[in-house]
Amino acid sequence: MTAIITSAPGKCILFGEHAVVYGHPAVAVAIDQRISIKIQPSASGMWLLDGGKLNMKRNPHIKGLIEKLWPVDQGAPPLSIHIEGNIPRSSGLGSSAALSVALAAALRGARGRWVTHAETVGQNRWAEGFGSLITASDAYGKSGGFFSTIEQDKMFLLTGEESVDTDENAILAHSVEAAAQNGRASPIDSSTCSHGGVIVISNQVQNDLTYLYKRSLKMPDSERFWHIHELELGIVPDDIYLVIGNTGINAPTGKQVAKVAQMLELTPDRMEEIETIGKIAQRGIDALMVGDYEAVGRAMTENQIMLKSIGVSHPQLDVLIKAAAPTCLGAKLTGAGGGGCMIALTRNPKLTSDAIELAGGRTYISKLGSLGLRVEKLSDQTFWSRS
Ligand code: PMV
Repeated sequence: MTAIITSAPGKCILFGEHAVVYGHPAVAVAIDQRISIKIQPSASGMWLLDGGKLNMKRNPHIKGLIEKLWPVDQGAPPLSIHIEGNIPRSSGLGSSAALSVALAAALRGARGRWVTHAETVGQNRWAEGFGSLITASDAYGKSGGFFSTIEQDKMFLLTGEESVDTDENAILAHSVEAAAQNGRASPIDSSTCSHGGVIVISNQVQNDLTYLYKRSLKMPDSERFWHIHELELGIVPDDIYLVIGNTGINAPTGKQVAKVAQMLELTPDRMEEIETIGKIAQRGIDALMVGDYEAVGRAMTENQIMLKSIGVSHPQLDVLIKAAAPTCLGAKLTGAGGGGCMIALTRNPKLTSDAIELAGGRTYISKLGSLGLRVEKLSDQTFWSRS
């Protein structure tokens, strides 16, 4: 039996991190760095990861997706999973979301999708249901949604590429990310890594953008929701690049978000700074839509000033940003800050990258808004199918 191969990109946040927690828009782009997943039935009868025994505890995203898409208790056979890629881990570039999106697609391809004969279209035909309202533990019903109520002769199995769906991969990836992060995860990573391009999330509908869907998540203390949009870039000039500079300093997102929350609790007036980030993000969106990359760069630099002001930068991020400044259109930290990565928008990727490396950062060069999920190789034969 042949293998199934899928891949998904990493992401970085161009505008609006932290302010997005308070309802303002954030913009993320898919980057050229990708993770690819290859799955095959395991010849040894054991779950394998890169040739060794798969440790489910150490791989919560993989475990979560197996639980949702690959019911071992119903006879789905153990698989051998291989992961390859060039997205650095734990650096705010979406490596776990990319892994989850690619694996969700591979598992779906491996089992196919039951659809009804009914004359409905798209997701309404799915016989196993679709969870647009997700919680940390249940993206779509462990029992398989409303599958059991539909008679067998009223449905048939879609296989191959037709069975895979980017919305479903985004929702499943969000669900397992939330479960792996104690119930807290915004859908920005999972949606960007699944759909690719440029994604805007906000708790307001952004009228000028293409609406994708709404997501909500019950977190330990509250329920949050997001509207997810796609921003269609026109033709991006050939010489426009992002250079990502990794400080190598690990700073957990939760800690950074808590630091901002505490600051706002002590000094509520500082919400003005958060609002300013929201306004800058909106200017960034407008500039991206008309392809004015000088203005995009300026908005990034202004966004960085505010991020520094709310205390989420780090001396090493500041060093890398300063090193990039003479050769780029704009630069800022990306993601939660406190370490992790910075990004520079530049027409001189080599010069900018060299300057960041000289200042001590590890660099990655990417175009803006790469392709999302890709099914690289899919068999028309399923590895297992519910009957
Ligand atoms: O570091 P990342 O890529 O996980 O981004 C975090 C973005 C924040 O706005 C800081 C948090 C959030 O949940 O949106």
